[in-house]
Parts: sequence; structure tokens; C-alpha cells
Amino acid sequence: MYQLGLIGYPIGHSLSPWIHEHFLKKANLKGTYSIMEIAPEANFSVEMERLKQKGMNGFNITVPYKQTIIPYLDHLDDNAQNIGAVNTVVNKDGKWIGYNTDGIGYLRSLEGAYPELFANKPQRRVLLLGAGGAARGIYYALVTSGFTHVDIANRTVNGALAIAELKAESTQSAVLSLQEAEKNLASYDLIIQTTSVGMKPHIDQAIISLDHLKHTSIVSDIVYQPLETAFLKEAQNLGARVHFGHTMLLYQAQYAFEIWTNQQVSLGDMDDQLKSILEGR
Ligand code: ATR
Repeated sequence: MYQLGLIGYPIGHSLSPWIHEHFLKKANLKGTYSIMEIAPEANFSVEMERLKQKGMNGFNITVPYKQTIIPYLDHLDDNAQNIGAVNTVVNKDGKWIGYNTDGIGYLRSLEGAYPELFANKPQRRVLLLGAGGAARGIYYALVTSGFTHVDIANRTVNGALAIAELKAESTQSAVLSLQEAEKNLASYDLIIQTTSVGMKPHIDQAIISLDHLKHTSIVSDIVYQPLETAFLKEAQNLGARVHFGHTMLLYQAQYAFEIWTNQQVSLGDMDDQLKSILEGR
């Protein structure tokens, strides 16, 4: 019996139980995935002590505890250490080991949709919009997987500079304002929107205008509520190809499940099923 779950707040509407219960079935494993909401006023140390005693096989961590969890871990994998945030913990013989599957999950989702982007990674010019936690994970995954040209644009330039410190030896990263990014958009093959701008209920907002987009670019948005953000709609209207945010959710979960069970399940039609769930919300 695999005992899995999620901590965070608020997580009542999380899609993770739906995803991981499918994975357990696909992998022919018995287990449960439970929601363990921890309110901000709770004593986090006491909650962690309780969780340790449960002896769960693994759990996910979401907002606002991705950093709070770190002092309670026995070991951090390199990826989580460099990103400075943990979204997955595995229990190995009573020791808690922390991982971050967001960035790698994002890259898997992108490769699933656009494998050709990965054929010649050093030639691709990538623009990352935003400098929050999600941007950090995605930037680190991009530069450690062989994308060498990744620029970062953010409302506050200092935030972007902090992310650029994660660059690999061969990485070239310019830091831009959002206005500069708008003007220079035609020089990018892949544009990744990593902030919450455009998320419900602010569905008319877009972080930048895509006026200067070249139609051969791929435009990606990690927001998945709504599935089709104003940003992606504009990209599609301009003839560009788009990458939807819900797939990152599936692939980061796939990688977490792999860490817990050593099994990589195929997603099959879960992409379409998740789309239907999100469209019905
Ligand atoms: P996280 O990615 O950690 O979950 P977030 O709040 O979703 O965090 O996103 C933080 C990012 O969104 C930051 O890059 C933030 O820009 P600043 O660093 O300048 O604060 C960006 N962001 C949030 N609201 C924004 C807005 N209205 N316009 C532009 N960028 C915004």
C-alpha cells in the first residue's frame, strides 16, 4: 500500500489526487493519495512531527510551504538545492529526501508537445517571462538540459538577475525589462510565461503584448485556469503554436510518482481528460 499525499494551503480543489489515483491504477499499485491541508495559523513543526510518525511513502508540497519544508528534510537533491524549493518528498528508510519536479516536469511536457525544439537546443533562443518560483525551476531545468540561450524578462529587473545566477557554464542569459522583451520578441523561438498574470478571475490580462511575435515561435503559458489564457489566444491569433499549462501539472506529477515508486507511467489520454475537467470548472 503506497501512502501518498499533498500538503499546502488552500488545497481543497487540488487536481493531484485525481492524477495520482490514475497513476496508481495505471501502475497496478495499491495506495492512497490524501489531501493534508495545513492552515497558516497551524504550528508547522508539530504538523511535520505528526507527518513523520505516519510513515508515509511520499508526499507533495505546494504553496505556501515549498521552502518552509526544507529544514525538516534529511537530504535535498541537487536540483531542489539549486532551485531552493521542494515540491516532492520521498521517505527512504525513515529519511525524508526532497526533490523539485516542477522544472523537469515542465520540460517533459514541452518535449512531449514539441520534440523538434529539443533536436537543436543550443540554437534555440528562449525568453522566460517572470522571476518567481516557477520561473526559477523552469530556468534551471532549461540551462541544465542544454538550452544555452535563455533570456529573462521581469517587471522587477532584480528578480531576473537573481535567476540568471543559476546559469550553467555555457549559458548566455540577458536580463530585460518587460518593455524591452515586447520590442525584441521577434528574436525568440520559444516564449514561456511563468507568472500568475492572466489567471482566473483576471482572464483579460496578459503580461506583455505579442505584437512583434514571429509566427514560427512557440508560446507557452504555465497558467491553466483558464486553459486558454488571453496570452495564448493572442499567440494563436498571430499564427504561432502554443503550449498549454495543464500539461506541466501532469508531467511534474509523473516525475514525482517515479521518485516514489520507481515506475514511469504513460499519460495516455489524461491530457484530454484533464482539459475536460478544467473546462468544466
Ligand atoms: P511564483 O512563481 O513564485 O508562484 P507568482 O506570484 O505567481 O509567484 O509570480 C511571481 C512573478 O510574477 C514575479 O516575476 C512577479 O514580478 P515581480 O518580480 O516584479 O514582482 C510577476 N508578476 C506578478 N504580478 C505581475 C503583474 N501584474 N505584472 C507583471 N509581472 C507580475
